[in-house]
Amino acid sequence: MTAVVLMGGWSAERPISLKSGRAVLAALQQAGVSAEALDVDGPTAVRALVDGGWERAFIALHGRGGEDGVIQGCLEAFGIPYTGSGVLGSALAMDKLRSKRIWRGAGLPTLDWAELTPETDPEAVVARLGLPLMVKPAREGSSIGMSRVERATDLEAARAAAAAYDDEVFAERWVTGEEYTVALLGDRALPAIRLETPRGFYDYAAKYSEQTTRYHCPAGLSEADEAAMARLSRAAFAALDGRGWGRVDILRDGDGTDWLVEVNTVPGMTDHSLVPMAAAAAGLDFPALARTILDSAAL
Ligand code: DAL
Ligand code: MG
Repeated sequence: MTAVVLMGGWSAERPISLKSGRAVLAALQQAGVSAEALDVDGPTAVRALVDGGWERAFIALHGRGGEDGVIQGCLEAFGIPYTGSGVLGSALAMDKLRSKRIWRGAGLPTLDWAELTPETDPEAVVARLGLPLMVKPAREGSSIGMSRVERATDLEAARAAAAAYDDEVFAERWVTGEEYTVALLGDRALPAIRLETPRGFYDYAAKYSEQTTRYHCPAGLSEADEAAMARLSRAAFAALDGRGWGRVDILRDGDGTDWLVEVNTVPGMTDHSLVPMAAAAAGLDFPALARTILDSAAL
């Protein structure tokens, strides 16, 4: 079987995707797969996908264009089986606002939110959601464009900063508590990871450059809580039509209530990323993990 690892792309997460892609390529080769990498940086590369004759595609693209259904749609049209979610699941999970609406409709727990436009009255948002608040672009990854707002007077600047990445922006109620993430591999939830950062939240620096972030896996949850978090993660993923593999981010408040934050359908796959960490805790090394994901490729 020949495989192509799709990496790079044109989103703001391109540098992370290049790292994920290189790590996946090395892991697949170690696992004995005949694999090559393709930097999907534009239409010429998309054309090369058809001409390359590869039998399967491992999508290691993060963010818009690669994680939102666009490249998935191309692969469907070309008839090349690919890893991860299909067009609909990818598009929904990339969009945090629509994810929240679906979860709310399905009775799954997600924090209250308010959409923000230049006309939004900051005081009305603060009256409803309280302070601090988290402001996010709807379709972005790696916490890019996100900020924590402490005062109503700072809301408009945070909205404008997020609007540089997406025309849809929202504010979300803040919870003080613990951050968890659950990796899903097929029908299986891998052990939860608890993240601890001295920064205001698990932002881009905490994810990729700060040495101060601490990762706990096993996360220290009771067996019942771990099982409940796994169930919630699977339900959240299924509600968005997720497939194959992914990672669900969760906040646990002081009362022990879990809140869905987002689903990542192409989670980071660098040597230091969370899915490989959870897989290792479950006894699956990086080459075996990459091979398992590739084997689940479908159309
Ligand atoms: N969006 C990044 C790559 C992640 O979720 O891991
Ligand atoms: Mg994300």
